[in-house]
Formats: sequence, C-alpha cells, structure tokens
Amino acid sequence: MTSTQTKVIAMLNQKGGVGKTTIAYHLIHYALREERTVLAIDLDPQGNLTLALTGDFALLNQQGGSASLFPDPSSPTPSPSPLAAMTAITPRLQLLHGHQHLDAVEQSLALPNIRATAAVVRSLPFDVIFVDTAPSVSSRQLAPLFWADLVVVPMEADEFSVSGLAALLKSIRLAKRENSGLVYRAAINRFKIRSKYQNLIVQQLEEQLAADSPSLLLRPLLSERVPVAEAIGRRKPVWAYGRSPRPVRAEWLAFCEAVYGDL
Ligand SMILES: Nc1ncnc2c1ncn2[C@@H]1O[C@H](COP(=O)(O)OP(=O)(O)O)[C@@H](O)[C@H]1O
Ligand SMILES: [Mg+2]
Repeated sequence: MTSTQTKVIAMLNQKGGVGKTTIAYHLIHYALREERTVLAIDLDPQGNLTLALTGDFALLNQQGGSASLFPDPSSPTPSPSPLAAMTAITPRLQLLHGHQHLDAVEQSLALPNIRATAAVVRSLPFDVIFVDTAPSVSSRQLAPLFWADLVVVPMEADEFSVSGLAALLKSIRLAKRENSGLVYRAAINRFKIRSKYQNLIVQQLEEQLAADSPSLLLRPLLSERVPVAEAIGRRKPVWAYGRSPRPVRAEWLAFCEAVYGDL
C-alpha cells in the first residue's frame, strides 16, 4: 500500500461461516503491525468482530456504533456524528461496533442515502477502514460496496459458494456504476489441500474468474487449521499466537500482504 489516501476494504458474502470476520480481524492486525491508523466497522448484529476486538459483551447490547452511519432522515433530532460513536481500542484502532439493535436500522436505503453514507465513510480520518458485514443481502450490508476500494469475498471451496459468488458479482457490477474504482478479490478459506474435490472447485473458480480478469483469486489459499479459531479466542492474530505452527503464520501473513499489495 503506497498511497496516503484512506483505503476502504469490505468483507462480503451472504453466506455465514466462510471467514469474513476471521479475515477482517487478521487484516486489521496486519494494518496495525504496519503502523497504520485503522477504523473497524462492524455491520453484523451478531457483533463477532466487535467481540473479537474488544472482548466486551456489553457493547453488543449498546445502541450507536455502526448504526451512526445510517442516520434516519425522518428523525427530528440530528444523529450524532460517527466520530462520536466510535470506541477507542488502542491509540491506532477505533471501532464502530456491531450490536443487536442494528437490524432495526433502515433495511431499504434509497440510492441517494447510500451515496450520502459513502461520502461520510470516505471522509473519516484513517489510513485504512475495514467493514465486516453480516450474512445477508439487505441494503445495509450492500452499502459497503459503495464505500469500498476493495471487496474481499471469503468463501469455501464448494459448489454452493461458487454459485453464491455469481450472485454477489451481479451486485458488485451494479455498485461499480456508482463506485467505479471498486475492485474485488475472492479468498478461499478453510481449504483442505488433500481434498481432490476442493482442488477441482478452486480450478473451476479460477477459470470462472479469469473470464472477468486474471488473478482475482487471492493467494495463498487459507487452510482449515485449528489454531486460527483458537488465536482469535485468545484475542490474537494467528501469527502472534504461541500455538500456531510456522506454516500457518506464514500463510496468513502472506495472505494479508497480498491483500494490501492490491491497494
Ligand atoms: N482457516 C480457518 N481454520 C479454522 N477455523 C476457521 C478458519 N476460518 C474461520 N474459522 C472458524 O470458522 C468460524 C466461522 O468463521 P467467521 O470468520 O466467523 O465466518 P463469517 O464471519 O463469514 O460468518 C469461526 O468459528 C472461525 O473461528
Ligand atoms: Mg462474521
């Protein structure tokens, strides 16, 4: 990453359990390691990223946070600025937390309102802004397509994920009409290298994506490894977790480097 401009990276896949939060968590720690200033935006009412970053269960019940990005235009009182809704986690890391009241936030945002959210997000004073989304296709979850420089689509190497990607690509193409600089990359997570089936799916996916443009699939592929889940539970990225074998650390660092290399 060379530019000094704010970069917005969003994780998106309507499927749950594919690693959106896990990858966001690692990309955030990688950015902090590079001494960037970081804003994490958690749009998931389950608040998994919020919990991973703070360990604070109470935040998951607390209004505000990322809801501040979607002010209600019909409300008589002006909404507080997102800057006032942030939780400082470290001097370099701020969070707009996710919470269970997020589902009450407007689900059918009109295009002008989405445009307005894009201008707000892109003006926030950080080197990198990460957006983690919920497994759904509401307009609140699609709004980050209008904010982002890069969308990372984590998926597993199975048939359903590949067909799900086709649907997401439609949304990405639509968003590109408004946000022409948007690029996307697919990330295979929970990969089982010994599975012939998974290797075949990756090959098919690569052919499918190559029709769009080459190298849309991020490398390395991320293997299914127990320490990945354990590390987050210990509030650490996998490369800082004592029980991670060296190849797992190297794989995640190389992956994060590849993501930043794209910006
Ligand atoms: N590469 C991996 N190896 C092992 N477990 C993983 C890996 N990636 C994610 N997980 C685990 O899978 C579960 C779902 O991942 P998560 O990041 O929460 O997915 P999503 O945010 O897409 O719903 C979590 O329990 C997480 O710890
Ligand atoms: Mg998640």
